[in-house]
Amino acid sequence: KSLTIGLIPADGIGKEVIPAARTAIEALGSDIPTPKFVDLIAGFETFTRTGVALPEETVEVLKNDCDCALFGSVSSPSRKVVGYSSPIVALRKILDLYANIRPVVSVSPSPDEPSKVDMIVVRENTECLYVKQEQQTFGEHGKEARATRLITERASTRIGKMAFELALARPRRHLTVIHKSNVLSVTDGLFRESVRAVQTKDPRFEAVTVAEQLVDSAVYRLFREPQIYDVMVAPNLYGDILSDAAAALVGSLGVVPSVNAGDTFVMGEPVHGSAPDIFGQGIANPVASIRSAALMLRHLGYTEAAHRIDNAVDSVLREGQLLTPDLGGTAKTQEYHISLQKNS
Ligand code: NAI
Ligand code: MG
Repeated sequence: KSLTIGLIPADGIGKEVIPAARTAIEALGSDIPTPKFVDLIAGFETFTRTGVALPEETVEVLKNDCDCALFGSVSSPSRKVVGYSSPIVALRKILDLYANIRPVVSVSPSPDEPSKVDMIVVRENTECLYVKQEQQTFGEHGKEARATRLITERASTRIGKMAFELALARPRRHLTVIHKSNVLSVTDGLFRESVRAVQTKDPRFEAVTVAEQLVDSAVYRLFREPQIYDVMVAPNLYGDILSDAAAALVGSLGVVPSVNAGDTFVMGEPVHGSAPDIFGQGIANPVASIRSAALMLRHLGYTEAAHRIDNAVDSVLREGQLLTPDLGGTAKTQEYHISLQKNS
């Protein structure tokens, strides 16, 4: 038996960090079925070369041949480029990867001590403003732009279930629902109600304590007292912002992993973007991608393998070895390959 893993490094530092995740998986040996890697293309560079950001073949291979996948990062331009749309946003939709699970955990000073920051941001991954229905028109006073924000009961309920399941499996069993329904009472109101209703429909979830927090004060409290959070569930845009903010609490965006999960497929992906400011220097932190590989394997049930990868990363970070410049050190991405191979 083998495990077929699609690799989509895409743009920028994605090309530098995904190979390290591959090395981490290869170093596992017999903990998992023999991994088979399939190299796939997508991204802005693919778009400029071929005219499409997400080739049909990439989607077909993922759907038909792969058990799971790892995605690097895309360089999406901030201006509108005709014909271009982000392949990661598209992939989440096409593969119905409706949950983006983002654990933000600090490395504890010793293996027996708990982490100071230990939370999971559960981000709805298919709707909200990311449905990208935007239009610009001319009004009486000049240009006007509008965007549609879609929130459905179905998507809010299924992300709510995922969040309750995750909270139930953790020692604290605490869930915070993030919204802004004091202002957006219809859209965020529906999100809030749908998530809360999940608890009333499954007696197992009674064991979870539930709190609510408006998104703006959630960011404030995140910085002042991160320990109040265990699992947070949020609509797409708030979840995106909250998880980048939370990354600041654990040193760098370069260490925060995620998985995009649906009912039938899982794709690991570092939370960070393509980091054009450091691309090409060989100093990108591969920890987020390596941890994303672990998270992906855990999601597939390879708990022991995931644990081994996480332990290897924690121990090099704890000992202050292999700190890349984002963490205050001078280590290079490449040094992780050597360390991971030694660890196997
Ligand atoms: P970014 O996450 O690429 O970078 C933010 C800052 O964090 C930069 O200073 C960068 O050097 C640093 N950083 C990020 N990852 C790092 C790593 N692994 N090691 C060391 N330092 C790291 O966000 P930014 O600059 O806002 O966006 C750059 C591009 O990435 C944009 O084109 C954006 O569209 C894209 N992007 C793509 C995402 C994805 O593929 N899912 C997510 C976020 C942004
Ligand atoms: Mg982000």
